[in-house]
Amino acid sequence: MTRAIGRQTDPAIRTDLCGIRLASPVILAAGTAGTLDETAGVTDLARIGAVVSKSITRLPRKGNPEPRITWTRAGMLNAIGLANPGVEAFAADIAPRAARMPCAVIGSIAGFSIEDYVGTAGVMEAAAEIPIVELNVSCPNVHGGVEFGADPGALAELVRAVRAELNTKRLLVKLSPITVGTPHSPADLARVACEAGADGMTLCNTIPSMGIDVRTRKPLLANVTGGLSGPAVHPVVVKIVHDVYRAFARDAGVPIVAGGGVTRWEDAAEFVLAGASAVQVGAGSFVDPRSANKITKGLLRWTRSQGAGNIGELVGRVELA
Ligand SMILES: Cc1cc2nc3c(=O)[nH]c(=O)nc-3n(C[C@H](O)[C@H](O)[C@H](O)COP(=O)(O)O)c2cc1C
Repeated sequence: MTRAIGRQTDPAIRTDLCGIRLASPVILAAGTAGTLDETAGVTDLARIGAVVSKSITRLPRKGNPEPRITWTRAGMLNAIGLANPGVEAFAADIAPRAARMPCAVIGSIAGFSIEDYVGTAGVMEAAAEIPIVELNVSCPNVHGGVEFGADPGALAELVRAVRAELNTKRLLVKLSPITVGTPHSPADLARVACEAGADGMTLCNTIPSMGIDVRTRKPLLANVTGGLSGPAVHPVVVKIVHDVYRAFARDAGVPIVAGGGVTRWEDAAEFVLAGASAVQVGAGSFVDPRSANKITKGLLRWTRSQGAGNIGELVGRVELA
């Protein structure tokens, strides 16, 4: 089968991400599109940029007990706990499906030690149809899930070790939005990750959070706490993208992939103006599985209405007084 990545969309919306050509800057976020291709029946994958796989760990994980997804007025709370089939099943069952995808595939890896990440990265390196790897160092729903992403020394060591494993792949590092209470800003961590060998960064994962049923007095999630995503996190991440772009990414020429509360094309356009080269849709796909396609169409109309020949011309072009 001939793969026609990038030919289904207007040139004005095609996007270069670390040298990889995407049909659109809109990407389905890790863990929100099944393991890889399960949304193909409801989302036109030929008209989006990429799908990020479920985060894969060295060993299979059942994840946290249910309930592990719930909705609040502010958005979605999840504590899936990195449920995934593990790296051996990934190599046998999921990676071969990447070859049949009509869009780019980004392989997400998670772990609890450098050896874990490196082992999974080695399997990703062998997957010819996966050009980009996203390193999840920011999962708030498992013990130890955010530690690598919060400590610059540990982050640099991890990125260097994973980079050494990935000779042919681009590497994105997915950071947490929460650095409050630590001396390190997201821009500091992004800089550390890129200096250690990352080609770009994904901003951001979910925000640690909690909900309580006041009638039963029990937490809404069996795990007690989870990660908040959806519209409430969007303005938080717009600021982080704006800060990281101006503090570091613009001058370093490093792309930002922004995710958090993108449910309409306007949200995606805001991220582009703040400095993102591509955007991810997560919780929005649960509300409307076609939202990524609708957002792509809206971005195309917006790009033309702004007089740009390609959406890349609008990256970081917020007009500050
Ligand atoms: C049900 C669910 C599962 C998720 N699983 C993962 C995961 O395996 N790896 C990861 O890096 N992020 C995971 N995320 C975070 C999303 O990829 C995304 O970064 C986050 O939801 C913010 O985007 P949104 O506001 O559009 O949902 C998950 C989010 C949800 C809602």
